[in-house]
Amino acid sequence: VPVEGYTAQSYGDRMADVYDEWYHGISDVDDTIALLGELAGAGAVLELGVGTGRLAIPLARHGIVVTGIDTSEQMLAKLRAKPGADRVDAVIGDITKRLPGGPYQVIFVAYNTLFAIDSDDDYTACFGNVAAALVDGGRFVVEAFVPRAPDVSSSVEVKTVTADRVVLSVSVFSPDDQRAHGQFVEFSEAGGVILRPWAVRYQTPAQLDAFASAAGLNVENRYASWQRQPFTATSERHVSIYRKSP
Ligand SMILES: C[S@@+](CC[C@H](N)C(=O)[O-])C[C@H]1O[C@@H](n2cnc3c(N)ncnc32)[C@H](O)[C@@H]1O
Repeated sequence: VPVEGYTAQSYGDRMADVYDEWYHGISDVDDTIALLGELAGAGAVLELGVGTGRLAIPLARHGIVVTGIDTSEQMLAKLRAKPGADRVDAVIGDITKRLPGGPYQVIFVAYNTLFAIDSDDDYTACFGNVAAALVDGGRFVVEAFVPRAPDVSSSVEVKTVTADRVVLSVSVFSPDDQRAHGQFVEFSEAGGVILRPWAVRYQTPAQLDAFASAAGLNVENRYASWQRQPFTATSERHVSIYRKSP
C-alpha cells in the first residue's frame, strides 16, 4: 500500500534543501557523462527526474543538448540557481504522464529514480512514454539498485550526529510487494524536527526488461556501473541500456 500522505512531489520538495550536500558523491559524474555522451553523439538527451541537475548540468557543459523533467519545483529551483543552468531545459512534469519535446537520441534515469514509480500501470506508461519520445535506434539508460531480500522488516540508522543536530534514517521494508519507505528525521536546536520522506517500489532487472520489451525497447547492454564494469550475479547496481529498434 502506498505511503499515506506521500505524493510524487514529496521526495523532491522535502529533500531539495539538503540534496546536493547529501548526494553530491553518489556516483562518478565523469564516467556517467562519458557513457551518455558516447551514446548521444550529436543528438538530444532527456533526463527523467533531473532534480538539482547533478548530472544534467555537467552533461550540457559537455556540449550536449539536455532537457530534464521533474515533479518538484523545489528541486528545479536548485537546478536553476546553478551556474550553467541556462544550458538545461528544465521542465516541470511527471514521467508517468507526459514527456516534454523530443525526439531524443538518449533518455536516461539515474540513481534509483525510476523506482519512485509505484504501480505496474505507471511503469508501463513511463516505458511507453520513453519509447515514443526516442528516435528509432535511440537508447534508454537506467541506473538502479539490484533488489536483495532485506534481513529485517524495519531499521533505524544514525546518519549524522553533531553537538546541535541529529539525523536518523528510519526505513520500513515490505518485500512481498517490493516496496520500501522511510524518513530522514532531523532534530536540531535551531530547526526543531524536519521530516524528509522517501518511498520506492523497486523492480528486478528482469522485471524492468519486461516493461521495456512491452514498449519495444530491448536490452543492448547491462553493466555494473557507469564505468562499464561487467554485470554479474553479485552486482549491487546496474546500468542498463535499452535500444528502440532502428
Ligand atoms: C534521487 S533524485 C535524483 C536527481 C538526479 N537525477 C540525480 O541523479 O542527482 C529523484 C528525483 O526524481 C523526481 N521525481 C520523483 N518522481 C517523479 C516523477 N513521477 N516524475 C518526474 N520526476 C520525479 C524527484 O522530485 C527527484 O528530484
